[in-house]
Amino acid sequence: MNVINNIRQLRSWSTINKGTRCVFVPTMGALHEGHAALIRAAREIAGPAGNVAVSIFVNPLQFGPNEDFSKYPRTLIEDLGLCRDNGADMIFAPKAEDLYPADRSIVMHETSLSKMLCGASRPGHFDGVCMVVAKLFNLVQCDDAVFGKKDFQQLAIIRRMVRDLDFNVVLHGIETVRESDGLAMSSRNRYLTPEERAQAPAIRAALLAARDAWKAGESNPAALQQLITRQLEAKAPLGRIDYVTVADAVNLQPISAGTEHVVIAAAVFFGAARLIDNIELK
Ligand code: PAJ
Repeated sequence: MNVINNIRQLRSWSTINKGTRCVFVPTMGALHEGHAALIRAAREIAGPAGNVAVSIFVNPLQFGPNEDFSKYPRTLIEDLGLCRDNGADMIFAPKAEDLYPADRSIVMHETSLSKMLCGASRPGHFDGVCMVVAKLFNLVQCDDAVFGKKDFQQLAIIRRMVRDLDFNVVLHGIETVRESDGLAMSSRNRYLTPEERAQAPAIRAALLAARDAWKAGESNPAALQQLITRQLEAKAPLGRIDYVTVADAVNLQPISAGTEHVVIAAAVFFGAARLIDNIELK
């Protein structure tokens, strides 16, 4: 496994590997079993002859001024072990000053999907995600890229970016990996106190209850939102709901009778941690 931490080395890796299918998994490190599943999926897609590239970079542009950029867990040594164990061929772990010249003056700005869900309370976040993913796609020169459906809005926005900017990259969405009690794995779960951790699985339970209600015929978004809110208030009093939204899974706008794919997404604060999860209804 090659560990590369500057652009010059990455360019020569790309030159040497030209013609070999490259499947890319962008991450911010602090890797867990969810990331491992993405790397294994990338390994499958790449096949024995292909390359699996993983980036580890805590992207300053996607953190708001009051968010956890400086506190975000950094566990590079363990991360490299996890990448190796799950079949990665190349790790790109650049420094922020390598990716972002001090006088950079070109920006990315998504104007529709990023206004909804998480974007509403994290202004600029998805512009920062688009910027780094676009740069990483250009640098790594990948043919495919693998993202988790846990960050449903992120995947939808990257799909839009690839379409609108004609990136020649095939995107793959991977199911959310969960703890045995249903809590979606997240690098931020380590911020939870034992009491918060005990209540956090209520998010998944509430989303499952809403899906049951949907299957039983409840299609009113307000009723589904209320069902989830009530359950969370009852079972997770330490949680503070940021949003619960029923949305079109492709453009994240409110649903109508003709909406083909529907998702419910939720974000709940537990102390310092903001946890997100979602469930696809159809
Ligand atoms: P990060 O939070 O490290 O996540 C990297 C990838 O792992 C994302 O595609 C995310 O959806 C996926 N992931 C995280 N937890 C998961 C879980 N429990 N199950 C399945 N997949 C999971 O997302 C980012 O980093 C950044 O925004 C990034 C795309 C790297 C840009 O900086």
